[in-house]
Amino acid sequence: MSNLTDRLTALVRPNILALQPYASARDEFTGTAAVFLDANENSLGGPLATDYSRYPDPQQKKLKNLLARNKKLTVNQIFIGSGSDEAIDLLLRAFVEPGRDNVLILPPTYGMYTVQANIHGAEIRRVVLQPDFSPDEAAIRAATDARSKLLFLCSPNNPTGQCLPDEFVLRMLHTFPGLVVVDEAYSDFADRPSWSSRLAEFPNLVVLQTLSKAWGLAALRVGMAFANPFIISILNKIKYPYNLALPTIQLAEQALEHGADVREKVVLLLHERERLAKELPKLACIREVFPSDANFLLVRTTDADHLYQHLCEHGIVVRNRSHEPQCAQCLRITVGTVAENDRLLEVLGTY
Ligand SMILES: Cc1ncc(COP(=O)(O)O)c(C=O)c1O
Repeated sequence: MSNLTDRLTALVRPNILALQPYASARDEFTGTAAVFLDANENSLGGPLATDYSRYPDPQQKKLKNLLARNKKLTVNQIFIGSGSDEAIDLLLRAFVEPGRDNVLILPPTYGMYTVQANIHGAEIRRVVLQPDFSPDEAAIRAATDARSKLLFLCSPNNPTGQCLPDEFVLRMLHTFPGLVVVDEAYSDFADRPSWSSRLAEFPNLVVLQTLSKAWGLAALRVGMAFANPFIISILNKIKYPYNLALPTIQLAEQALEHGADVREKVVLLLHERERLAKELPKLACIREVFPSDANFLLVRTTDADHLYQHLCEHGIVVRNRSHEPQCAQCLRITVGTVAENDRLLEVLGTY
């Protein structure tokens, strides 16, 4: 074994290393067959016009090939899950020994890191961002020990909206003893290259992306983890065999042919984000609009709880983040359509 594989192997839970994964007959069969009597499907088909009687490809090979081309990666660097939430769950299950290992998060940040870590029984070490939402490196170093397995870096960060500084991420990649998970759910809205272009340099890097945000496909549930092939092989080993439904796979394949359309919509959303960022501070109820690299704005208001209620009463739902660390009186507002943003400004104007 190479040093590299040794290092990564040492991070995996021993029961996962030893695990014999579920293998379907179709995983094992490599020739061409016309008669499939191996999986107890209904040979007569289902009640719908389209035939969904057969289990889908457990490795989503065609979709991975398209993603590999699109993201300039190799297929063995790609895991596809039912949303990137699945990848977060599997990373915990593969690398974090419940009751012994710990994970680091930098609140305020995406809530599912905490939920999944709690479900899993992992110790969570919270290193709160500084008031300007920059990471507190000394505190991260102090909170890290040999049992620190995952460091979740959300960039652009939800709910603060900003990318983490490149130099900081680099230092974490060089010094953190476990895996550095860079969650790029919103990276299509940011003017920065993806960390996935640095995978060859950093075997401890895992990049998460999703089709739920810029790609406008949240209902399909498609998320990706990009990492060293060894890490990807571990995630594939423990995922549900058929973790993506066939319609999801097929629609995601179709969508990837329409990157230009997606980029056009991103430009429109960024334009609207800038309009909101200019108009919101003119309102009496808004104290501050934080800079954003994402498709939402975090705003500090005069009274978040009441303002949230006021918006709800007018049929507008935003996210009240005012009880998160460093987010006193803050609401997180997704950039909507031109009409939705106009309505938002109008209703906020009547508060
Ligand atoms: C930072 C971040 N990561 C991941 C996700 C989950 O995305 P998915 O829909 O792919 O599960 C979200 C969704 O809000 C998010 O904000």
